[in-house]
Amino acid sequence: MNLALLCSGGDAPGMNAAVRAVVRAALARKWTVQAVHGGYSGIFNQEFEPMHDRSVSRILHQGGTVIGTGRCPEFRDPEGRARAAAILTKRDVDALVVVGGNGSYAGLSALHEETGFRCVGIPGSIDNDVGGTDPSIGFDTAVNTAIQAIDRIRDTAFSYQRLFYVEVMGRHSGQIAASVAVGSGAEAVVVPEFPVDLDGLSDHIGRGYKAGKRSAIVIVAEGAVDGGARGLADAVATREPELSEARIVVLGYIQRGGSPSAADRLLASHLGVRAIEALADGEDPCVVGNACDGYMSTPLGNAVTGGPTLSRGDIRLANLLAGLPDPVS
Ligand code: F6P
Repeated sequence: MNLALLCSGGDAPGMNAAVRAVVRAALARKWTVQAVHGGYSGIFNQEFEPMHDRSVSRILHQGGTVIGTGRCPEFRDPEGRARAAAILTKRDVDALVVVGGNGSYAGLSALHEETGFRCVGIPGSIDNDVGGTDPSIGFDTAVNTAIQAIDRIRDTAFSYQRLFYVEVMGRHSGQIAASVAVGSGAEAVVVPEFPVDLDGLSDHIGRGYKAGKRSAIVIVAEGAVDGGARGLADAVATREPELSEARIVVLGYIQRGGSPSAADRLLASHLGVRAIEALADGEDPCVVGNACDGYMSTPLGNAVTGGPTLSRGDIRLANLLAGLPDPVS
C-alpha cells in the first residue's frame, strides 16, 4: 500500500505523535508513506515528502505538527476534490490518512463518496468535538495548559482580591471550558451549549465577595456569548456595578501549542497504529477513536455528523462545586 498522510484544520498537541505512529506502523508492514505538507492544500501544491523511519525521529514530544496543517477552501468544492483524487491517483496513492477535526472529516467523507478514494480519519482537535471518539488528540494538553495558566491567575486574583474572566478556546464547544472550570475550581463557567443566566451569575459573584471571598474566576468559552469574556464582563457590570473592576485574560492560542501531555501521546500513538490496522483489515472508510470500550473504528459517514457533546452533568458538576444553582435543570 502507498499512503498519503496529512494533518488538517486547527493544529493540536499530539498530532506529531499520530504522524509518527502512522509512519512507523505502515513501514512495519512494508507500506510506503508520503507526508502531505500544509493540509489538503499540500495535495494541490504537490508538497509531498516520502517518509522514512528516521523522518519521524524526535517529534513525539513536540507541539504543533511538523508536516503543517491548514484549512483548504478548494477542498470544500466537488471539483477541487476530484482534482485532488486525480493528483493522488497519479502519484500511486492507494489511501489517504487525515489527522483532523469535524471539518476535515467532512471533506474526507465527500472525497470518498464522490471518487471512491480509500481513507481513514484520526481525530485531532483541542475542542474534543470530533465524531467517533471521546477524547480527541490535543484536548487533554489544552485543558492542562489552561489550568496551569489559571492557577497562576488565581495567585494574583487572591492577592489583589480581584475578579477575572478567563476566555478559553471553543467557538462551538464548551468542553474545554467545563473541564477547565472543574479542574481550576472556577466560580462559574459559561458555555455555548447552555444559556447563561446573567442575573443569577452577577448575583452569585456579588454574594461571594460580600461573604468574604478573596477572588473569583469565571471561565468563558470563546463562543458562549457575544464579545466573549469582554462581552460577559460588560453584561455583568451593568447588573452589578461593584463588579466592574474586573480583569480579562484571553488564553487563546497558548492552548493550541506546547508539548503534548502523556495522555495525548498515548492516545495519538494508539490511534495512529489503529488507523493502519483499519486499512489492513479493510474497515475503511472509517475514523479511529477511543471510548469506554477501548480503541475502535467507526464508519466515516457516521462520524461526520456527531461528536462528544457537553452533557448537562458536566455543567452541573462545575456549578455544584462553585456553589451555583443549576440553571439547566
Ligand atoms: O478547532 C480548534 C480551534 O482552536 C477552536 O477552539 C477555535 O475556535 C478555532 O480553532 C480557531 O481557529 P483558527 O485557527 O482559524 O483561528
